[in-house]
Amino acid sequence: MSETNTLQTPTWTSRWTFIMATTGAAVGLGNIWKFPYIAGENGGGAFVLMYLGCILLLGVPIMIAETMLGRKGRENPVHAMLKHARSVDASKAWSFIGIMGVAAGIMILMYYSVVAGWALEYVFQSATSSYIGKPSADIAEGFSTLSADTGRQLMWHSIFMAGTALIVALGVTKGIGKAVNILMPMLFLLLLMLLGYAYENGEFSQALSFMFTADFSKLTGDVVLIAMGHAFFTLSLGMGTVMVYGSYMPQNASIPSAIITVAFLDTLIALVAGMTIFPLVFASGLEPASGPGLLFKTLPIAFSTMWNGAFFGAGFFLLVAIAALSSSISLIEPGIAWLEKLGVNRIAAALGLALFCWLGGVASIYTTEVFDKLDYITANIMLPLGGLLIAVFVGWKLGFTRSRKEISEISGGLFNLWFVVIRFIAPLGVLIIFAKSLGLI
Ligand code: PHE
Repeated sequence: MSETNTLQTPTWTSRWTFIMATTGAAVGLGNIWKFPYIAGENGGGAFVLMYLGCILLLGVPIMIAETMLGRKGRENPVHAMLKHARSVDASKAWSFIGIMGVAAGIMILMYYSVVAGWALEYVFQSATSSYIGKPSADIAEGFSTLSADTGRQLMWHSIFMAGTALIVALGVTKGIGKAVNILMPMLFLLLLMLLGYAYENGEFSQALSFMFTADFSKLTGDVVLIAMGHAFFTLSLGMGTVMVYGSYMPQNASIPSAIITVAFLDTLIALVAGMTIFPLVFASGLEPASGPGLLFKTLPIAFSTMWNGAFFGAGFFLLVAIAALSSSISLIEPGIAWLEKLGVNRIAAALGLALFCWLGGVASIYTTEVFDKLDYITANIMLPLGGLLIAVFVGWKLGFTRSRKEISEISGGLFNLWFVVIRFIAPLGVLIIFAKSLGLI
C-alpha cells in the first residue's frame, strides 16, 4: 500500500501498482484457508457456483463503486463518506458505512491473527520436519493437538499481532506492499506446484466433481448467505479497505478493468487452493467438512512425502503468513487513518487498536464460539450490509451523472449496465439473500 501517514499522499503512478496492491490486500487467508474449508462444509459445487455468481453480480459492481468513492474522496472511509454526503446534500449518517467498516476490520483481525498464527506454527513444524514421513491420520491429528494447545496459539497470535502493529505504527506499509508484489507470485507458483502434486497423487476427478457439480438441494438460506458473505470477505469489500486503496488510484486509470483483474486473480487463487486441497482430502480419507483445520490437515500430507518437503512446507506456510500480514495491515489501516484524522498520534492509534485486536484474539483462542461469531457477523452481515449501503449511496444519492463523470473510461452501454446493477440489482440481491437466510422468503 502507499504511504499512509496521511491519506492525501500522491496517487500511484501506474494502474498496475493499484492492481498489485489491491490484490495483495484481497488475497489472504480467505482464499487459501477459508474458501476450501467453507466450500467443504457447505457441500461443494452448489456453494461454489453461488460464490462465483456473487463475485460476478454483486462483488465486481460494488467493488467498482467502492473504488470510485475512494478515488473521489481521497480520505479515510469515515471522512470520505462525510465528504460525499455533504457534496450531494445527503445526511451525515452515511458516514456509518465508514464507521461500520472500521469496526468490521477490527473484528475480523481479532480472529484472523489467530489463524495467521496457525500458519506460523506450521512454518515451524515444517522447518523442524516434525510431521515429515508420518501417516496421514497422525498429521491430521496434529492440528487437533494445536487447537487444544492454547498457550502455543497465544504465542503465535501475539507474534503476528506484534508484527502487524509494528508495521502500521512505523507507517512502513509501503515497503510491505512492495515485498508482497514479489512474494505473492511466489506463493502462486508454490500453489501450482502443489496442484501438480495433488493431480498426480490425489483423487483429482473426485475433487473436480465435488467442487463443480452442483446439487441445488444443498442451497439452504444459510449456505447462500455464507457464499455471499465470502464473496465480500475475499474481495475485502464493503468495509472501507477498497475505499482506502481506491484513494490512490490515478484519475486517468480505468477502475472497471482494474477491478475485474483483481477479482479474477483473487478467484483464481481460491479455486486453485480448492483444487489442491480436495484431491488430498479424498485420497487420505478425510472429511471435506473437517472445519477450520482443513488446510493444515491436508497440505502437510503432501509435504510429508514430497521431495524436500520440509523446505517447501516451511516456504509455503511462510508465504501464507505474509499474505495474511498484507491483509491484516489493510484490516487495521482504515481505523488508524480515521483516528489519525481525529488527532490521535499514529503510533498510539496503532498500538491501541492492535492491543484491542489482540485481546479479541485471546478470547477467540479460549472460546471457539467467539471465533465463530466474529467470523459470522463480519463476513455474513457487516460486509454485505456495507456493500448494500455503498450501492444505494452511489445508485440513489450520487446518481447517474456524477458517477458517469468519475467512470468515463468505459462505453456508455457498459456504464448503463453497471449503473442498473448498482441502483437496483445489487441492493435487491443482497436484501433477498438476507431475507432468505432469515427464513422470510
Ligand atoms: N480479503 C482478505 C482475505 O481473503 C481478508 C480481508 C477482508 C482483508 C476485509 C481486508 C478487508 O484473506
